[in-house]
Parts: sequence; C-alpha cells; structure tokens
Amino acid sequence: MNGLKVAIVGATGAVGTELIKLLEDSQIPISCLRLIASSRSARREVKFRGTSSLVDVIEDASDAAFDIAFFSAGGATSLKWAPQFAAKGALVIDNSNAFRMDSDVPLVVPQVNPKMLASRPNRGIVANPNCSTIQFVRALRPLAQSFSIRQIVLTTYQAASGGGLRGINELLTDAKSVLDGTGEPTSERFPVSLAFNVVPQVGELSDDGVSLEERKLVQESRKILGLPNLKLTATCVRVPVINGHSEAIYIELTEFIPLNNVRELLARELGIQLYEEAGCCAYPTPRLLDNHGHVHIGRIRTNPDDSRGLWMWVVANNLQVGAALNAVQIGELAYRNRLMGAQ
Ligand code: A2P
Repeated sequence: MNGLKVAIVGATGAVGTELIKLLEDSQIPISCLRLIASSRSARREVKFRGTSSLVDVIEDASDAAFDIAFFSAGGATSLKWAPQFAAKGALVIDNSNAFRMDSDVPLVVPQVNPKMLASRPNRGIVANPNCSTIQFVRALRPLAQSFSIRQIVLTTYQAASGGGLRGINELLTDAKSVLDGTGEPTSERFPVSLAFNVVPQVGELSDDGVSLEERKLVQESRKILGLPNLKLTATCVRVPVINGHSEAIYIELTEFIPLNNVRELLARELGIQLYEEAGCCAYPTPRLLDNHGHVHIGRIRTNPDDSRGLWMWVVANNLQVGAALNAVQIGELAYRNRLMGAQ
C-alpha cells in the first residue's frame, strides 16, 4: 500500500487544526491530504508539511475516493456525509456524537479496546469517543481489569475548547469585557457566561435532570470498557479554562487495595504520567501540562473514612488526547492492520 489519500472534514476547527499538526508526524503515510470546511472557509490556505493547500467545501470533495476521512464538523455533517465517504471506500474516523452508540460502529480508544480494529466495520465508520470519556477510560482500564468495582462517582471540569473555536473565542471575549468593565456577559456557545464562572451544564439537560455530556460519558465508557453494568454517575461542569479537561474520580472498590498496587498498575500503562509525590503543587493542572499526548494522574489517595474508596485527579489535553490524537491513533492502528481487510 503506497501513500494514503486522506481527508479532514472540519479542518479549520479546533480539533481539525490539531489533526493537521498531528498528521504531520504520524505513522500514516500520506500522499494527498484534502482539507474540507464550511463555505465560510472555502479557498483559505492551510499549510501541511510546509506546503499550502486550499480548503474545499464538502460538495466539491464528495466524489473523490479517500483511504481515510477524519470527520470533526459536528453531528449533522457526519450524519449526512460520513456514510457517503465510507461508500466510496474511505475508513471514516468520526469525532462527532452521530454514530458512537450504534451497535455496528466500533467506539475505539486504541489503548483500551484495540481489538475493535481487528477487522473493518461493515459500515466503514469508526467512532472517536467524547473527550471526557477518553481520558476517563484510559485511567480506569488498568484498574477495572484488576479490581472489582462497586461504583464510580465522577466530576468533570471541562475547558472552553470542548465547545470548539467558538467556545474559546467566547471565553476570551467574555473575560475581556469583564476585565474592561464593558459589555454584557456573553453566552451563545455556553448556557451562561463562562468567564470567571463555573457552569454545571455541558450539553442539553433532559427531563430527568441529566445532561447530554453526562449521558455520553456513562454510555460510552460502558461500551468501550465492555462493562455494560458498570455503575457510574457523573456531574459535568464547564470551567473557564481555555484547553485541558480535568476529572475528579471516586472509585469505590469491593475491597481494600493498597495504594502502591494502584500506582504500580497505572505506572505500567503506556501514555499515563503519574504524579506520585504528595504535597503542594505535586499534581497536574490543565494550563501547565508539559506532555500533551499523555493522560496525567495525580492526588491518588484512599478515602480516610472508607478504605475501599479511591480518589484520583485526571487531566488531559482534550483537543489532543480527547479528540485529535485518539483519532490519529485509530488511523495508525487501522493502517498497521492495513485498514483492516476487505472493503
Ligand atoms: P468553518 O471553520 O468554515 O466554520 P469547531 O468545532 O472548532 O467549531 O470547528 C468546526 C469545524 O467544522 C470547522 O472547520 C467548520 O468550518 C467545520 N464545518 C462546519 N459546518 C460544516 C459543513 N457543513 N461542512 C464542512 N465543514 C463544516
């Protein structure tokens, strides 16, 4: 197999921009990269490996045959176009919510369930999980494989970049108007103004009071880990951080496990960076992460009132680990499996 023809739909967005950067150094040999966005960005110049390409609208690229098509342009675009790209032979790696829970679409985190990429899915679509799900399942997998879990309670602290470039821009504009003492609080991308605030809602709230993000986190984690009965409940919170999601995870095990055993298991896991010292500042924070391809885990501790209870603090770059890097790693694994057999 020579160089691959690759498309990125949503190439000008927050995740698309990271995809372009990560593909520059990836193990996927690329002979042609087609960059696609909405008509707002048509003919914009974008550089890949030092060469400029012009951004296309999707209608102009939909007749072409690609080996891999990354989609990160929202659920509606994926629903409409991903099946058409797959029908023309592309392995679609979709970052939207459109297909994640479909039983015939694998939902993949290569460090957790790589077997799902052993053969090509019938529909030619692989789903990339939600950003907060990816860092959670990467931290949980070694523990879930070794210990018996009674239940997990999780709180997320999610950055503005989870809402795309519009989310980042809204936070910056909103913060500036607060600091300048000018203008009204802005809240288009987020339910209420995010600057200097904390918002306990990510995605729509349904009648039972659960948000879409909380539902995704629970359902997707069960699917990826292959634990349909995992007891997991979450509160997802948006915080005024530009990029980098944090999670406080409380795992109630069925028996006491010494912290050293927990640390040893996590330390063996590829791509996990442990902060083992106790004390002030010995933990990861989203703005000051040094390795953007890792899941960072600190403040591992036992609940002083219940020795079966384990806390940890998990931070990752949501645009990379939680989206673009996971998608590229799916592509790399699919390529190592030579795009997984028959089409
Ligand atoms: P554009 O930049 O032209 O709006 P983000 O998640 O950061 O908001 O980015 C969303 C990405 O999806 C952008 O690249 C955006 O392009 C792209 N996009 C939005 N609507 C469409 C569409 N109908 N067809 C192709 N790309 C789209």
